[in-house]
Amino acid sequence: MTAPHPVPATPQTLAEAGRILAAGGLVAFPTETVYGLGGDATADRAVAAIFAAKGRPRFNPLIVHLAEVAEAEAIVVMEARARALAARFWPGPLTLVLPRAPHSPVSLLASAGLDTIAVRIPDHGVARALIKIAGRPLAAPSANTSGRVSPTRAEHVAACLDERVAMILDGGPCRVGVESTVLDLSGPTPVLLRPGGITAEALAAVLGGPPALAAAGAPLKAPGMLESHYAPSVPVRLGACSPRPGEALLAFGPAPADATLNLSPAGDVEEAAANLFAMLRSLDHGGFTAIAVMPIPEHGLGLAINDRLRRAAAPRPAP
Ligand code: TXA
Ligand code: MG
Repeated sequence: MTAPHPVPATPQTLAEAGRILAAGGLVAFPTETVYGLGGDATADRAVAAIFAAKGRPRFNPLIVHLAEVAEAEAIVVMEARARALAARFWPGPLTLVLPRAPHSPVSLLASAGLDTIAVRIPDHGVARALIKIAGRPLAAPSANTSGRVSPTRAEHVAACLDERVAMILDGGPCRVGVESTVLDLSGPTPVLLRPGGITAEALAAVLGGPPALAAAGAPLKAPGMLESHYAPSVPVRLGACSPRPGEALLAFGPAPADATLNLSPAGDVEEAAANLFAMLRSLDHGGFTAIAVMPIPEHGLGLAINDRLRRAAAPRPAP
């Protein structure tokens, strides 16, 4: 069976979505980063349904989405650094990993049994309206099959999920286009677990110094950071200047004549981030043997783009 057709967010569809979530069902919804596959974060059954719909390994914990900063206090232990970052970046593409609050209602399955919980407030009217009407925090991974390219349009969700998602709310293309930055504040030193929509430079300005980087190949702290991820079905080749026969060329900056698509002809990393997943998806379906990607500068959102591209190009696990 296939996924339902995306519907616009109206008072009626939002009310229906709220009923679905309250009954343990799943609703895909837009955020400023990528589309999320949402379920009641306090209900084990709903969280289990998310894992099943995504085909996601159970050990990979989910981000818990809230509508208001005040709601975080009941779920995680906020401290001075967390409050300062929340005041500056929420709502927005920053996820904070914090100690689980003593009576946190969040399902242990959602945090994969860890003693920390990842929380964020998305900067999208539809997402926040949905969380409010559901009246509960929503656990939501990106709304794609595990390991594949994240969806930045409602039709991407419809193309990769099945009827296990009861409703897809359409909010148009996602503004940021790469997932939230994941920052671990559960220890004495802030650790950047995943580069994303809030740049390391912006975090440094609030923290008084750059966060530590999660050691490469140390997937234990952020179990979701598997080596191969965000993968189109055809191979991805990085640092390319021109396409080999049969390859698509995904360009960046002033276009070579043989570019198939260009992430940003102006060389703007924010524009490139917003285009990244949609362009990978469209080249994946273009009948090419591989996708060759030109170098992206390693600053600002370029860090998040290069992180996703390295995973897309990483050796795939045997099926
Ligand atoms: O932009 C986003 O963050 C999107 C939208 C839908 O909000 N969500 C998203 O979720 O990207 P997901 O499940 O694809 O990625 C969540 C990341 C994973 O790398 C996971 O390992 C990490 O957050 N994470 C979640 N809870 C954690 C925890 N308690 N400790 C460490 N890492 C955690
Ligand atoms: Mg994901």
